[in-house]
Amino acid sequence: TIFENAQEGAIRAAHEIASVIRSKQKEGRNAVLGLATGTSPINVYRELVRLHKEDNLSFKNVITFNLDEYYPMKPDELQSYVYFMHEHLFNHIDILPENINIPDGTLPIEKVKEYCLNYEKKIEAVGGIDVQLLGIGRTGHIGFNEPGSSNQTVTRLVKLDPLTITDAAKDFIKEEFVPLRAITMGVGTIMKARKIILLAWGEGKAKILQKTIEGNISDEVPASFLQQHPNVQVIVDQWAALEL
Ligand code: GLP
Repeated sequence: TIFENAQEGAIRAAHEIASVIRSKQKEGRNAVLGLATGTSPINVYRELVRLHKEDNLSFKNVITFNLDEYYPMKPDELQSYVYFMHEHLFNHIDILPENINIPDGTLPIEKVKEYCLNYEKKIEAVGGIDVQLLGIGRTGHIGFNEPGSSNQTVTRLVKLDPLTITDAAKDFIKEEFVPLRAITMGVGTIMKARKIILLAWGEGKAKILQKTIEGNISDEVPASFLQQHPNVQVIVDQWAALEL
């Protein structure tokens, strides 16, 4: 769906997520959300906070799993995705802290593999992700699944692509401060979500969005695997849609 501007698109995405939360509430069940970071979802979270404050949207029945976290990364660092999620969403809603899951960037390296397997198991244990929110990186990454990530990949430690490190430099003052690795859900993990909402704003995303939607399905553009998912909604502004 192409919107005139990012703000309108973000509101639509937030309302889609809110309707999943509300319909699960009516059934007396938990809603399981897969959440993303980066600039793309910020206005989606802003609208969800507004719906919480002004329109009775409760997050008491919501369980969240974030896509990724830099490695290594301490939760209280400004660049951490833990910090980001609290600042933009969790501090402003009534979600129960025990229902928040974000990959742990503080683990010693020898514990990471088992931790990642458990992250997958935890998602399965609550019935899988109802709706997964995604941004897209200029490399075609979703989460931090960089080119070369197959559609079978699961939660794991990955190396960041040089272009991703360049793009992240704005948050870390200098490129050399950007962590070289991250823990991310896999493409396979993402593809198991029952519904996926992909966001892309601005001309800078136009090329990769075209490849994602109209290009070959290949691990050279991991986001292209979304073409094989039965329930994906791509929400973009007119600038990101320029090459479609
Ligand atoms: C980071 C995140 C991705 C996100 C991407 C795009 O790499 N790990 O999940 O989609 O950035 O960021 P932005 O939304 O700021 O363009």
